[in-house]
Order: sequence, then C-alpha cells, then structure tokens
Amino acid sequence: MGRWAIYAAGVLCLVAIVGSIPVNVMLPLDMIDANGLTNPTQLQSDLNKLKAGGVNGVMSDIWWGLVETSSKSYNWTGYQQLASMIKSTGLKWQAVMSFHKCGGNVGDSCNIPLPSWILSVGNSNKDIWYRDEQYGYDEEYISLGVDDQALFSGRTPLSIYKDFMNEFKTTFASYISSSTLTEIQVGLGPCGETRYPSYQLQDNKWTYCGIGEFQCYDKYMLADLQAAATAAGHSEWGKGGPSNAGTYNSYPSDTGFFTSSGTDNYSTDYGKFFLDWYTETLISHGESVLSSAKSVFGTSVELAAKVSGIHWWYSDNSHAAELTAGYYNTNQNDAYYIIASMFAKYGIAFDFTCLEMTDSSSCGSRPEELVKQTRYAAINTGINYDGENALDICNPTCYQSGFDEIYKEATQYGNIHAFTYLRLTRNLVDNSANWNMFTSFVSKMKSAG
Ligand SMILES: *[C@@H]1O[C@H](CO)[C@@H](O)[C@H](O)[C@H]1NC(C)=O
Ligand SMILES: *[C@@H]1O[C@H](CO)[C@@H](O)[C@H](O)[C@H]1NC(C)=O
Repeated sequence: MGRWAIYAAGVLCLVAIVGSIPVNVMLPLDMIDANGLTNPTQLQSDLNKLKAGGVNGVMSDIWWGLVETSSKSYNWTGYQQLASMIKSTGLKWQAVMSFHKCGGNVGDSCNIPLPSWILSVGNSNKDIWYRDEQYGYDEEYISLGVDDQALFSGRTPLSIYKDFMNEFKTTFASYISSSTLTEIQVGLGPCGETRYPSYQLQDNKWTYCGIGEFQCYDKYMLADLQAAATAAGHSEWGKGGPSNAGTYNSYPSDTGFFTSSGTDNYSTDYGKFFLDWYTETLISHGESVLSSAKSVFGTSVELAAKVSGIHWWYSDNSHAAELTAGYYNTNQNDAYYIIASMFAKYGIAFDFTCLEMTDSSSCGSRPEELVKQTRYAAINTGINYDGENALDICNPTCYQSGFDEIYKEATQYGNIHAFTYLRLTRNLVDNSANWNMFTSFVSKMKSAG
C-alpha cells in the first residue's frame, strides 16, 4: 500500500469515528402546489431560522404530479423558486424524486395526484395500478407490473422516470456544482419507499396493526407470477397470491398462511416460492430505477433510497406485515441485507425511519430491533445509513425522550451518516420551548463523537 493510500485510509477511519451527524429538516408537504410556493415569505423566514439553529439542509419532495404536466413537458418554476431560496440561505438541499402521489398516508396534508395524463391511462386500464385480492386498486404509484409497458404516450414508466431525473439534473446543474444540492433520494414506491402498498390508509382499508395484503393482482403481475410458477414446474402456484393470508386488518394468528395451522403456510415450498417471487420482483424494480438514477447522476450527488419501517409483527415468526410489503424477513432470510446489497451495487445510501420509537409489547412491535438489523445491513454492505423519525415528536409539544432515543440509535452502532427530522411545522418553529429542545438536539448530533 502506498503512502497516500495509507494516509487516505487513516483519514476515512478518523471521519468514521468522529463523524458529526448533520441534521436536515423535511419541508412541509403543503409548501408548494400547482401555483408555485404557497407562502414564500413564511418559508424564507423558516429557512432563516433553521439555518440559525444549526440545521444542515432541507429535504423536499419533487412531485412528479406537479412538474410533468404532459408527457415530456416539465414545469420546474416552483422548484426553481425553492432552490434559489435554499441556496441564498446557505442551506443544503436534499431532493426526493417523488413518483408517488401526495395524500392518503399518515400525516399527509396535501393532495397531489400523479400527472393527469397518467391517471387518464388508468381510467381505461385499472391494471396499471397495484391491486389486492378483492381487486381494489391504488392510484398512489404505478404498479411495477407495467415497468416495461409502453402504455403512457408511448413511453414506459422506467423511461419516464429516467427522463424526469435527467431533466431535473440538467435544470438544477448549477445547484449541484455549487454543492447546494447534495443528495437525491429516489422514490421507488408508495410514500417514496421501496415497498408495495400493502397497508393503505385511504378508504379506511387498513388500520394499525393489521398485517396488510399482498398486492400482486393486476393482470401484468399475475402474468409474471404465472410464468414464474410454470418455470418452477408448479403452474398451479401461479393463479394468485396465497388464498389464506387474511385481510388488511387481520393479525397473523387469524390466518393460515402466517401460522402453522394452514397447510399452505409461508414456510412450505409453495410459501417460499411465492415470497421469493414477490420480493425479487420488488427488488428488481428498485434496481431498474436505481441503475437509471446512477447513470443520470453518476457521483455528482449522493444517492439514497428509502426503506419502510414496518415494526409491527416483527416479533412474530412470520414477520407478516413485512412480508406483505415485500420484505422477505423470515425463513432465515435477512430482507434488509438483501435490499442493502442491491443498493450497494450502485452506491445508494440506505434511508430508514422510526429511529425515535421503542419496542412495545403490543402488535409484536420491535422498532429498536428493526433499526439494529437495518443498521447492520448497511454496515455489512458498506453503504451509508441515513435516519429519520417516523412520526412527529413535537405535536403540540416536543418530548425529550424522542430526541434521546434518536441520538442513541444514531450513535450506538457507530454514527449514522445523516439524520432528517420530520418535519418543519409551526409547532416546531413558533414555540420557543420546542425550538430550544430541537436546537439542543441538533447541536448534540453535530458534536457526536
Ligand atoms: C408553471 O408553474 C407555475 C407555478 O409553479 C405557474 O404559475 C405557471 O403558470 C406554469 N407554467 C405553465 C406554462 O403552465
Ligand atoms: C407450515 O406447515 C407445515 C405443513 O403443514 C408444518 O409442518 C410447519 O410447521 C408449518 N410452519 C409454520 C411456521 O407454522
């Protein structure tokens, strides 16, 4: 090893040991709509306050539904206003490529559907959406089943996503070169997360802590499943998902698939076949989009993707709620290691949530064990780990134990790469007790040694 290599290794080591943890803040969902920034004066004053409070940067969704108003016609006006404000305030910017709809999930104060030229395709062909066993559909994110289908003004979703990222990069190139835009998080599913929409709050389909439902009933996914079953020599396995997997609000013990009482449970050959197919299909979708992102952005910015914190029924052997979301975390599989290994191929950071939560005796909820498992998945595959809290901890008053838990999780397995606080609210910035508690947390994270 040459002298410079040794020196470089030493520096990397040092950085890993004393790394301070930058804190970013998510901007409000309703800060932008089709008319641009909803309240630029307020936003500027909030950005100034965040900067003065020691915050590193701000994360914002870039809503596909606002920007690509017709196929290949992009309107970045609102985001140009935003970018220039962030830059002049001296903050960093983390931009999320949000190919999902805004609205219908926990804490969503917005209604930004997918672009109307996409919705109109869905009006005549409901199978472009993920579907459950009752054939209910979800307009939150296009089904991965049509990734390669040129159904949208002659374009495929994969090419649409790539073109969008290319346009974004070209439009905001000066923010990349000036190091204002430091991270792109790539949305891979509902809520921008790498998952299926297995637990849907909309229309009251799901409430915590139901196991959710498999989403593989659009005709494109069914055709793929049938082909996989036939190739496995069991064409009878290709008719659909397991018929004994309960419904959205079942508990694992209510079902045959997630318990020993069913003859066709998750640990039989059939169960393993189905779960393998379901998770591999999700990972392959993620890989297609992330490899595009890598080819568009190269190493000009950090790239990240988000994994959902499905902590309920983690302590149940079946890990039922994770399974329906596409995380095959049972039968001796380490779902998060498998996902992290795919991210590692493209140098994508692992963005994970629920750092403020603690294990509980109800619903098999084990967020701390889950953070530990995901943290090691990132460490063992050599990728960065970015943390977030799952729920607002300052509504209406912040609770110190939430910040303490985040600090503990962010440091106990070696310091994480960055933390993004969810989210900028009036409660956070206008209440001085809240603001003081938050800024103390920011400086503690910054000096984490
Ligand atoms: C582009 O978006 C802005 C708001 O962000 C809006 O005011 C403007 O009318 C849009 N331009 C076009 C051509 O639609
Ligand atoms: C699944 O079913 C098989 C066969 O009925 C049984 O032997 C096995 O114990 C069950 N597995 C679980 C995890 O319940």
